[in-house]
Amino acid sequence: MNIRTVATQPFSDQKPGTSGLRKKVPVFQQAHYLENFVQAIFDSIAAPKGATLVLGGDGRYHNRTAIQTILKMAAANGFSKVLVGRGGILSTPAASCVIRKHKTFGGIILSASHNPGGPKEDFGIKYNGSNGGPATETVTEAIFAKSKTLSSYKILDAADVALDTLGTSSVGDMTVQVIDPVSDYAELMESLFDFGAIRALLQGGFRIKFDAMHAVNGPYAKDILEGRLGAAPGSVMNAVPLEDFGGGHPDPNLTYAHDLVEIMFGADAPDFGAASDGDGDRNMILGKRFFVTPSDSLALLAANATLAPAYRKGLAGIARSMPTSAAADRVAQALNIPCYETPTGWKFFGNLMDAGKVTLCGEESFGTGSDHVREKDGLWAVLFWLNIVAVRKQSVEDIVREHWAKYGRNFYSRYDYEGLPTEAANGVMQHLRDSFTALVGRSFGKYVVQMCDDFSYIDPVDSSISKAQGVRLLFSDGSRIIFRLSGTGTEGATLRVYLEAFEADVQRHPLDAQVALAELIAIALQVSELVARTGRDKPTVIT
Ligand code: G1P
Ligand code: ZN
Repeated sequence: MNIRTVATQPFSDQKPGTSGLRKKVPVFQQAHYLENFVQAIFDSIAAPKGATLVLGGDGRYHNRTAIQTILKMAAANGFSKVLVGRGGILSTPAASCVIRKHKTFGGIILSASHNPGGPKEDFGIKYNGSNGGPATETVTEAIFAKSKTLSSYKILDAADVALDTLGTSSVGDMTVQVIDPVSDYAELMESLFDFGAIRALLQGGFRIKFDAMHAVNGPYAKDILEGRLGAAPGSVMNAVPLEDFGGGHPDPNLTYAHDLVEIMFGADAPDFGAASDGDGDRNMILGKRFFVTPSDSLALLAANATLAPAYRKGLAGIARSMPTSAAADRVAQALNIPCYETPTGWKFFGNLMDAGKVTLCGEESFGTGSDHVREKDGLWAVLFWLNIVAVRKQSVEDIVREHWAKYGRNFYSRYDYEGLPTEAANGVMQHLRDSFTALVGRSFGKYVVQMCDDFSYIDPVDSSISKAQGVRLLFSDGSRIIFRLSGTGTEGATLRVYLEAFEADVQRHPLDAQVALAELIAIALQVSELVARTGRDKPTVIT
């Protein structure tokens, strides 16, 4: 066994973003780049000798190469065992599930989530701790600090591990166990939901379509939806994971999941449609010719949670990211349970779930999940919806409309301005911060600005503070405009504008969200000087 200590130049650009380190593949292919970051992880987490690690990724280009390198480094750094998904595959929620179920020290997940894959596209890596959740801010910062000062890393000279057959092999003194990436996760899903009721629903002729977008959830959805639940063969489309996601953008929204949207809004639309992203943690829910916004989806799951076996006893609380609409807050209020508002990024939910303060969490960015794992979970959301539909025996659209009638409707939309020059994007944010005093009390038609701030959050569990998490304009009727810079992009800056208007009486209001939000959109453009400062008169994506 030959452990080599390799000299490395520290890199200055390894600051993890909203969910780990994301860069273009050629950046990761630079000599020592991946190794430097992996060593920074190992040095920061201080795993005891003999610890077990989980390793897997979304199967995108560079996944297999990175897995072999990480296995050799784990062996050189004293791990005694690594559980790796067959073919190097583990969806992000499945990785979280495996870490928790097998009580491992932590795990490394290789993914750039919904970003495109391929030799010139994105790759990513992140560390999850023993609770199965993304590393906390403190650990993340420690990793970044280490990555800037490292002068060497440790790696074992060893042959590559065969990743395609189940079973164990060795890398030096370390055992590598290749596990079925699906079975632990599928068993967990069966323990949470009423599979019998869903099976009966599907047998009764309820038609579903799940778009795996040639990403990691293909095998999970085939096994669970078509295998265990008996959905008609072909219900899962784009089911074969590809290294470049078939050239697509594996993000489940109305723009990128166009194959599915065409089917669900077509003449012979099935009753239920859903899609998930590159690494399987995001979800989009559709009814027949009907789109459920992610913010509404969280509120609906909360309101109907007791229909699923795992949540029969009720919820401890709900958490949503700050830009997510307040639809869930209304449900929390009705259920008399707390609702937490956190900064963007799943890592902020971990402490709340570990402390038993919340059961359900969600983000407007097509992320929903619960304390069954510590990641958002795309297929879980789909099964939860199917469970609710199976029990209520109503269409998705009817369930949502009844919800609005009872709780009111939070009209919601997000405008993304992608690939902006960083200075222009920062300029918009600074201009807004400089305008707070002038804005408070000002009225724009019926909208009166009640408060402006740059959202900051004190974690209720560990008291850590996260500042500058997005500029908020809060209006006196509960409407909101939020401006935030993305932390996941790999090119230039992305400015997100989030718009929300509450309407208590849904009968009285126009149905189209863009119409309902038109005034707020105009106010957002006016106060931010966005068009003049960025030269963009249109967003890249509207959700
Ligand atoms: C985006 C979403 C955020 C989500 C993250 C990871 O981050 O907005 O809600 O947690 O992707 O999926 P952003 O690019 O906005 O920083
Ligand atoms: Zn994802």
